[in-house]
Order: sequence, then C-alpha cells, then structure tokens
Amino acid sequence: MKIVVIGGTGLIGSKLVTTLRNHGHEAVPASPESGVDTLTGKGLSEALTGASVVVDVSNSPTFEDAAVLEFFTTSTRNLLAAEAIAGVGHHVALSIVGTERLSDSGYYRAKLAQEQLIKQSTVPYSVIHATQFFEFATGIADAATVANTVRLAPVVFQPMAADDVANAIAGVAVGSPVNGTIEIAGPQQFRLDELVRRTLDARHDPRVVVTDPHATYFGAELSERTLVPGNDARLGETRFEDWLNHSLTGHYAGSGRDA
Ligand SMILES: NC(=O)c1ccc[n+]([C@@H]2O[C@H](COP(=O)([O-])OP(=O)(O)OC[C@H]3O[C@@H](n4cnc5c(N)ncnc54)[C@H](OP(=O)(O)O)[C@@H]3O)[C@@H](O)[C@H]2O)c1
Repeated sequence: MKIVVIGGTGLIGSKLVTTLRNHGHEAVPASPESGVDTLTGKGLSEALTGASVVVDVSNSPTFEDAAVLEFFTTSTRNLLAAEAIAGVGHHVALSIVGTERLSDSGYYRAKLAQEQLIKQSTVPYSVIHATQFFEFATGIADAATVANTVRLAPVVFQPMAADDVANAIAGVAVGSPVNGTIEIAGPQQFRLDELVRRTLDARHDPRVVVTDPHATYFGAELSERTLVPGNDARLGETRFEDWLNHSLTGHYAGSGRDA
C-alpha cells in the first residue's frame, strides 16, 4: 500500500515512515525537502499518484497566530483537493487533544480550522488527537519563559513518547477511515508544571519553573482537565521515567530495548 506522509522528515513523520516501511508498506515522505510543498501545491499531484492513504503530520514553521492559521488552512485545502483528484481513500491527520477547548490560543484555533476542513471534505478521514509529546516539554518551557522563569499551571497532563505517537498513527493509517476522532495519550498522569520542572532539572537547565494557576499555555488559560483525553483514549506504553533515562543515556532502564 502506498502511503504518503506529509511532513515525513519531521519528528513524528520520520518515525512513522520507518514504522510503515518495517511493516512492508511503501511509505513516501513528502515535504519541502523532497520537493513537495503543501502551501504552494508544488509537487503534490506527482507525490499522490497511486497513493491509497495520505497522512498529514506537517507543522507550521512559525507559531505566530496569523501564520499558523494560514499554514494549516491553505495546506489542508491544497492537500484535500489533490487527494480528491488522485482518488486517495483515506486522509489521516495528527491534531491535539483539547483543540475544541482552547480557542484563546492561536495555534489551537489553527488546528481546529484544519480539522473542520477535513470533516467538510469528501475524502474519508481519521483525525488523531494526541496529547503533548515528551519531546515537546522543553518547547513548552521555552514558550512560557520570561528571563530565567518558566510560569506554568498545575493542571493534569498526560504526555506520551513520539515513538508511541508514530506507532498509533501507523495502526490508524493501515485501517479503515473512522470519519471521526481517535484520542491517544501516555500511560501516566502528571501536573504540567511538575513534568516540565523534572525535565529541565534532568537536563541541568538553570530555568526555574514557577507554579501559577493563571499562567497561559500558548495564549490560553488552562483548567484542571483541558489537556487530558476522555476515557476511551488509546494509551502508549512508554513511561516518562524510561523515556527520560533513554533520552539522557541512550538506554531504556530495565526494558531490554536497544537504544
Ligand atoms: N508537539 C506536540 O506535543 C504535539 C502534540 C499533538 C499533536 N501535534 C501535532 O503533530 C504534528 C507534527 O509535529 P512534529 O513535531 O512532528 O513536527 P516537526 O518535527 O516540526 O515537522 C514538521 C514537518 O512539516 C514539514 N513541513 C513544513 N512546511 C511544509 C510545507 N509547506 N509542505 C509540506 N511539509 C511541510 C517539515 O518539512 P521540512 O523538514 O522539509 O521543513 C517537517 O517534515 C503537528 O501538526 C502538531 O500540531 C504536536
């Protein structure tokens, strides 16, 4: 089965391409690096020829409100139009748990707009809502940093490893379209401020995480369960401590897995 991975050079995309190939599929990474630009449409029809499935795990190069909205709406429109012409039977897109609850955030508004375009299109689809990646904890800190201080709310947080995200997407991509949303998350719950503090401390990052219930998260105030999925979420296997140890040392403690 030919599966085109838009954003196939990114964090999730590169892992997804490897996973799909390991399962015997023809996974084709598509991004500006390989001559495919979903914003302009360049290279899109050639890349989609003969594809059964398109997985969109692309991301906007900048997170500024207007630019990110332009990225997700224009690229999704171009992609869906090209898929309809090419006869693609399944559009899979990676989005975020809580998009519908975070309308004060420009980034989340853009992701919601992306999802709405997918739902209005004629192409059968599956939207995957993932929680935050462990790998993104420092990105969360960076966005919340002023001088040496990182202000974060002590809300419930259930992040997951990028490897588990890629595995879950691969399973969805080779299945039938659900024409709805599937939630995926990590196996443990934390407090957002606590998890980021632990990540920064483990990396000897000198920044201080300050607990602030009113701290904004990418422009939006959070309530207790804004970032966590419902009870039906599919849970990844990787525990935070194992991932952190692996990311620091290259080894999974006690799991027997290779680095
Ligand atoms: N961070 C989180 O915790 C989190 C949680 C849930 C969901 N998500 C979602 O996960 C998705 C993937 O995130 P990621 O961290 O894996 O992204 P990433 O590492 O930043 O990779 C982004 C990818 O998008 C490609 N891209 C950029 N502009 C493009 C264009 N005009 N046309 C085609 N491809 C383009 C890039 O290609 P080049 O390498 O060629 O530039 C790259 O392959 C995002 O949609 C994000 O909203 C993230």
